[in-house]
Amino acid sequence: RAPGDLAGRHVVVSAGGTREPIDPVRFLGNRSSGRQGVELARAATARGAVVTLVAANVELPVHPSDVGQIVRVGSALELETAVRDAARDADVVVMAAAVADFRPARTPETKIKKVAGQAPAAIELVENPDILAGLARDRARAGQIVVGFAAETGDENGSVIDHGRAKARRKGADLLAVNEVGAHQGFGVADNTVTIVDPDGVVVGHSSGTKRDVADGIWDAVVGLLPPA
Ligand code: C5P
Repeated sequence: RAPGDLAGRHVVVSAGGTREPIDPVRFLGNRSSGRQGVELARAATARGAVVTLVAANVELPVHPSDVGQIVRVGSALELETAVRDAARDADVVVMAAAVADFRPARTPETKIKKVAGQAPAAIELVENPDILAGLARDRARAGQIVVGFAAETGDENGSVIDHGRAKARRKGADLLAVNEVGAHQGFGVADNTVTIVDPDGVVVGHSSGTKRDVADGIWDAVVGLLPPA
């Protein structure tokens, strides 16, 4: 790979996991560490890109000299606003963040209290927007490349890659990095393996190793799609 093959490109990477507030002190969250997204931002910076890292609750040490501009967000709606904002003049947007599918319908301004003898209050959920599908549908710029991730497990309805292919078609992203997740794969661990598919579900690449190696593999696939600078 050429060290400067993203020179002059603006890329946006979302990383981490969203937290959906239940009340002022509680949230619904997930176990995403943000490592893969941070490595995507680091790799792009090393390859010459101007990077905006939209970090949802990322607790890893990150520095603008390695990852570019850092925009910190909490919830899915905040992440959507920040990513759309940054995407306005971006050549590439990579959605590596784990976005909650649902959020509590109401978030009271005071803490929900336990009342002795009363059944617990149910938390009503509403659907969050699919940020990736929205970015792919309404391109902020002609020729903008939109990349997503899909953490899948195989089941009786199909293999990991079958589910990834279907998701690629559904979301309309230019590239989808599909990874198998389980107790010892994907979230929180150092190494990763992804299969990269196009919107027709065709496999266009594989990448495995450290999360940095996987990041570089994804950028290799992106570079192949970029229009000339
Ligand atoms: O549907 P699923 O959550 O498996 O899709 C994963 C991909 O979609 C990731 O790239 C994630 O960042 C993105 N996503 C999103 N908005 C959501 C849910 C997922 O952008 N509400």
